Amino acid sequence: MDQRIIIANWKMNTGFSEALGLTKKIAQETKKLKNINIVLCPPFIWLYPLSKILKKLNSRIELGGQNVYFENKGNFTGEISPLMLKRICRYVIIGHSERRRFLAETDEMINKKFQAVLKNGLRPILCVGEFEKTEISENHLYGSVFQQLGRAIKGVTKENIKKAIIAYEPVWAIGTGKPATGKYAAEMIVSLRDRLSIIYNRKIAREIKILYGGSVDAGNILEFIRQPGIDGVLAGGASLKVKEFLKICEMVGKNNK
Ligand code: PGA
Repeated sequence: MDQRIIIANWKMNTGFSEALGLTKKIAQETKKLKNINIVLCPPFIWLYPLSKILKKLNSRIELGGQNVYFENKGNFTGEISPLMLKRICRYVIIGHSERRRFLAETDEMINKKFQAVLKNGLRPILCVGEFEKTEISENHLYGSVFQQLGRAIKGVTKENIKKAIIAYEPVWAIGTGKPATGKYAAEMIVSLRDRLSIIYNRKIAREIKILYGGSVDAGNILEFIRQPGIDGVLAGGASLKVKEFLKICEMVGKNNK
């Protein structure tokens, strides 16, 4: 069965006991949901202890970083390398709009991170999305999202791109409580997949997982998950509320492809 993916981006939230509590509860309550992949992305400092807990609980839940640097080691104060991350987790979010916006991350840096992550055998979760809300037919909308995608994956081989996950996240929908409609998200995802099939080929484009992110919650999850082209979701705020997140997981599990 084609597994759907749910990414929990905790951002710069959770103290240790909260992170621990969330992880344990999610691991226990989702044990029966064998047909979805859950990836928790806590702050860096909780990754190692949470990896131990998940192992102890014999859980299928996986972990991901929220960012990474593009060199494996060196004098880069405050940074975490893919070489370090791969010992504790398998995924890493790259190019989140908050990093593009508040930390001046450029497409060039994102491309370097993307390549470095793949070289180290990690799976990148690449975030792309337009900053302004506009009509879907407007060329500049496609232009800006396609540009982010094209620049991020520049030079990535056919073999490697299959390991990537792409999260389409319209920035105006992130943290606003105003998500895109399922139809809008699905249309954008179809366009992204078309783009990938031009850059690579149809088969590869079909294999790459493309998710939706932006104000996903238990009340709107079905709208996204019922769209055949959407392979899962990336949740921020809702992933910090255990009941809400568990409902999302349950509904995705029940509505699998
Ligand atoms: P949100 O965040 O679910 O709180 O909108 C999503 C994200 O930032 O990826």
